[in-house]
Amino acid sequence: MIRFNQKEQIFHLQTKNTSYVFCISDFNSLEHLYYGKKIPDDNVKHIGNRQIYGHVAHEHREKREFNASVQGFEIAPFNSGDIRTPSVIYNCDGNVDCNRLRYRSHQIYKGRKQIDGMPYSRESEDTETLQITLTDDDNQVEFTLFYTVFQNVDVIARHQTIKNTGKTNVTVQKFASACVDFYGMDYDVITLEGMYIYERAMVSRNRIKRGTFKNESLTGTTSHCKNPFIAICSPNADEEMGEVYGFNLVYSGNFSEEVSVSFLGDTRVLLGISDVGLYWTLKPNESLCSPEAVMTYSNGGIGQMSRNFHDHVRQSIIEKEFVYSARPIVINSWEASYFAVSEDKVLELASSAKDCGIDTVVLDDGWFRPHDKQGLGDWRTDKERFPSGIKGLADKIHAMGLKFGLWLEPEMVNENSELYKTHPEYVLTTSKTPLISRHQYILDLTRDEVVNLIADRISQELEGAEIDYIKWDFNRYATEAGSFKTAQGEVYHRQMLGSYKLLAILKQRLGKALFETCCGGGGRFDLGMLYYSPQIWTSDNTDPYARVFIQNGTSVAYPVSTLSCHFTRGDCTSGRESTYEFRYNVASFGSYGYELDLSEYSSEDKKMFKGYSEKYREIEDLNLKGDLYRIISPESGSFCAYMKVSKQKDKAYLTFLELNATGFVESTTLRLKGLDPDKQYKNEESGVVLYGSTLMNVGIRIGDLFRKKRSDGYSVLFTEVKK
Ligand code: DGJ
Repeated sequence: MIRFNQKEQIFHLQTKNTSYVFCISDFNSLEHLYYGKKIPDDNVKHIGNRQIYGHVAHEHREKREFNASVQGFEIAPFNSGDIRTPSVIYNCDGNVDCNRLRYRSHQIYKGRKQIDGMPYSRESEDTETLQITLTDDDNQVEFTLFYTVFQNVDVIARHQTIKNTGKTNVTVQKFASACVDFYGMDYDVITLEGMYIYERAMVSRNRIKRGTFKNESLTGTTSHCKNPFIAICSPNADEEMGEVYGFNLVYSGNFSEEVSVSFLGDTRVLLGISDVGLYWTLKPNESLCSPEAVMTYSNGGIGQMSRNFHDHVRQSIIEKEFVYSARPIVINSWEASYFAVSEDKVLELASSAKDCGIDTVVLDDGWFRPHDKQGLGDWRTDKERFPSGIKGLADKIHAMGLKFGLWLEPEMVNENSELYKTHPEYVLTTSKTPLISRHQYILDLTRDEVVNLIADRISQELEGAEIDYIKWDFNRYATEAGSFKTAQGEVYHRQMLGSYKLLAILKQRLGKALFETCCGGGGRFDLGMLYYSPQIWTSDNTDPYARVFIQNGTSVAYPVSTLSCHFTRGDCTSGRESTYEFRYNVASFGSYGYELDLSEYSSEDKKMFKGYSEKYREIEDLNLKGDLYRIISPESGSFCAYMKVSKQKDKAYLTFLELNATGFVESTTLRLKGLDPDKQYKNEESGVVLYGSTLMNVGIRIGDLFRKKRSDGYSVLFTEVKK
């Protein structure tokens, strides 16, 4: 609900459990007052009204003590009298001006406007938007701030536009999507740190100090090493208790997030596209739109913050038609054959698929090339290994009663390709000898003609083929990203806009296909990609012991159904062995599938796989619609445990994994979470019936779970016993 108190000039954005309050100040700026637990419609202006002498010029000509750097702001332009970290920097005709932004008008309406060319949170039944216009009349620049409230999931989304309403050029050098000021600095900051084959595996928590903490990616992707999710929380917050403010960007490219503490000990959170290298020129009448930032507040710890974001992603980021539907259980050809894949091999995989409870056969990399030195940019089927072509193969797979999926890497070109030979100017580079990675360059998607050419070539090659699933890969970072056509300071963001355009075109042409995105594993795991693809390949690391960390970290910001997780040999990255059961227990955390050479497995093995597929289907509704409760973080020691609980709290699934063999397993107890204290639950393994309250307070003994093999891990279903 959004309310405007006309008399006091206060905006109150309210969700089910939270309030976000700001006002139009005496100088017509937007002064932030409060974000946190829901409060009534009181006038809270007193909280912002501190006056401390500073040496900074300001608009208050009468009051010597006035200091703009003490107020909270909704937008904080550089050079405007607030000497803290600015949220926007722009200049007109080469001068960095004093950007005095003044409130002009606002509208409150049901629903929201879509953001053209970029992903955003889709409207739901209770969505409302506040749109505010501010102007800098000296320089003839207009800002529009959008606040979209998603009441039932406690999420507020923000984005903004800047428009040049004057007659000379305006250049934008910093353009954060959101600026949120907090009084005090008593916070920790949480980020998801990682690297290739260890994406988001380290949930990093640091005490905020004076100065600036930066979370950023400059790779042209959100990257394996960083993630645009960021949170600040009270130092005593844990999974279940304490205040947590979560933020994320609906964006997949370079981003910058700053948590900076001012000289007075107040905290400012900024998030948006990266300002590194940003130099965006707006000619008269042109405008620039920021990506969308989303934020949530929880006073139920990190766990509740995650669940708010999970609900928001499912309600408003993922496409409706896929979000709650059973996901394909795939057999993917990559770890089975790598590049040595062929039609025969795929048909062989398909022939065992049904025996394993698999419904979709995915042909990964290798269908248009024998190695990674060629093929990208041309995407022409290797007819020797695929004599029936993609259409023919898809038909054969369909005739077997299975679905067909295909790997693509559309944003790239190999040096050894027809496309590169004829159009070397179509790649992103600033050099005559561009830096190369995995023998490939990134195509210049800032150019519409390149986007259209890629879309046409790929559509031509796949003409007539019925494709049910696409795995959309991206296997290198951008370096020296320059364009032969596009202004240097605009390349990174325009490139991202081009990728979104290409995704949208090919999604539209490929009709009903479910897209799974990927970036050399999980290097582009973000809300931007989830807008187009309901699931993302989480990591190339499928060693289940490592995956536990990767999946745990990823789940802090993203719902489990978005994590594509495969049962594999398990040892490809590490050489480490693991039991089947353990691999299943780990892979069933997210959207489940297989990546194995099935011909190497006996019919007994296949029976086991079928059992796993069926077991997964039994709990899939919990993955798609339920709530996640993390009980033991793998980072805390030898164990990992979590529960998925249905919204009605009539069904819950506990997974417990032992990562290191210690004696603690016998003596440790586990208190379950998320159950209804007053409901009775049956442990479907042991048959024991206990109240939710008992299971959550007294708990169970871990040792009792492991009368079986400890290295298998343990999963058990609890179902409500109706009285
Ligand atoms: C990286 C992906 O993460 C892998 O799963 C596989 O698709 C390869 N690329 C193919 O080149």
